[in-house]
Amino acid sequence: MLPWRYEAAQRKEPTVSKTILIATKKPFSRSAKAQASQILEDAGYRVEVLEGYADEPQLLDAVSDADALIIRSDKIHRGVLEAAPRLALVVRAGAGYDNVDCDAAKERGVVVMNTPGQNANAVAELVFGLMVFKARGQFDGKPGTELMGKTLGIHALGNVGKNVLRIAKGFGMSVLAYDPYVSREEIAELGAAPTDTVEDLYARADYLSLHIPATPKTVRSIGKERMLSMPEGGTLVNTARAEVIDEPGLLAALNERPDLSYITDISPSAEHLPAFEALGKRFFRTPKKMGAQTQEANTNAATTAARQIVAFFERGERPNVVNG
Ligand code: 3PG
Repeated sequence: MLPWRYEAAQRKEPTVSKTILIATKKPFSRSAKAQASQILEDAGYRVEVLEGYADEPQLLDAVSDADALIIRSDKIHRGVLEAAPRLALVVRAGAGYDNVDCDAAKERGVVVMNTPGQNANAVAELVFGLMVFKARGQFDGKPGTELMGKTLGIHALGNVGKNVLRIAKGFGMSVLAYDPYVSREEIAELGAAPTDTVEDLYARADYLSLHIPATPKTVRSIGKERMLSMPEGGTLVNTARAEVIDEPGLLAALNERPDLSYITDISPSAEHLPAFEALGKRFFRTPKKMGAQTQEANTNAATTAARQIVAFFERGERPNVVNG
């Protein structure tokens, strides 16, 4: 028998070629994290996890030896990229990548990907949870209203918008949609009535569900004018981004028209929150952003992100690159 020291020296340890950091302020479910880690470890990578972190210095420290990141809404700005000299890839496990400085990443040769569609059903289901909650008077025991027969306007028909449309049909809602990037024919094929203009969409929607990304064009684009154009009793539902809302404008409209309501999965800014809360039941926000917070969505997004990392490093593939 060989002496143990010799045996240990001869044992072939797998070479750890890459370090992958899962950096999520809002943690994935335990199972999603375990499954994503397994995919990465099977490829021979070391997995580090930084979750629920409070301070940016923790993130800056954690990225210092990372070859790739899996993130959610975590802010990856130039400073974070500069603190990560080995970084080649950032995968946003989710759809919106407005939290990543894609230009700074490109300058540094860092590829940015997202995982479109992986959490879309979860967000869409929450839209209906919010609408039912609103329609039933936040469960106050008084007679509420039903969604059946009401008109739902879907602003942007991406993955979430399409899932909202699918579910709305089951509720018996009449569905209108507007998306400048989707043809009228395609909208009709999906089962919604296309509107000619965005103005027309808001003017006819009892419920208006927002699914536009936050881009320089859309930031603060939904405010007084859009809200005031809604019909009597109209409700704006936001499971997209806080940034697309012009908060002072929306507040002005909500104060001018006591029949209108705003329900959102993304809290308004601390500056304007008290004014929104003063609206009483015409305003509701989830205590935490909950759209993508399901076991299923976490697993879909995290494992897809892990597979994309393996495909990138092992096979030179570049799925879902958003800064290419
Ligand atoms: C997305 O863009 O995918 C959603 O807004 C979900 O974001 P989250 O992962 O931060 O919950």
